[in-house]
Amino acid sequence: MSERLRIALTKGRLQDKSVELFEAAGLDCAPVRSPGRRLIHTLPNYPLDVVLAKAPDVITYVEHGVCDLGVVGKDTILEKGGAFYEVLDLGFGRCRFALAVKKGSDFYDTYKTRRVASKYPNVTRAFFEGKGMDVDIIKIEGSVELAPILDLADGIVDIVETGATLRENGLEPIEDVAQVSARLIVNTASMKLYRNEITDFLSRVERELGGKT
Ligand code: PRP
Repeated sequence: MSERLRIALTKGRLQDKSVELFEAAGLDCAPVRSPGRRLIHTLPNYPLDVVLAKAPDVITYVEHGVCDLGVVGKDTILEKGGAFYEVLDLGFGRCRFALAVKKGSDFYDTYKTRRVASKYPNVTRAFFEGKGMDVDIIKIEGSVELAPILDLADGIVDIVETGATLRENGLEPIEDVAQVSARLIVNTASMKLYRNEITDFLSRVERELGGKT
């Protein structure tokens, strides 16, 4: 008998794109399309249950094995890390991490320690460590563009998608830090225990992704 798998989807934009992809691959995702306040959904035509969660929690659930699979952005993977297999780049949710500063300011033109604000302190630390540069990192929870405007920081490391938020706040990207897109992750034990089920799911998704490129 085939085992029912459980997948954690990142709520919001990645959730909608995941549902589109899974439906194109033949999975009826009607329960996830109109979820109400429910957080777990059973798909009617495929042995898969869908859990809706915040991005870092997707990784937590997959790492602990309470979800076999997960869809989460590379941004969260880079920031949080963890032990799991990252098996597929799903191609949507594309954006980048960039270092941005006030338009016209020269971030590197000083010997003083630079202050960098970010929602992603680990990504920021790794980026500047890679340059052998010591910076003070200030953790901000959202709207990080405010930090240089208010002179809390000399720059920010943040997600840039269209660039509109930077532009409308008088900031400009000066360096790319990393490329980001949605990834499919798999719990390491599930990969062995439910190899057939996971292979079937992956091949359906891969076939659909292949058809798009
Ligand atoms: C993200 C990111 C930028 C913005 C970039 O913020 O932190 O602020 O989107 O998108 P753009 O380049 O298309 O303008 P989000 O909407 O997640 O809100 P937050 O800043 O409050 O976290």
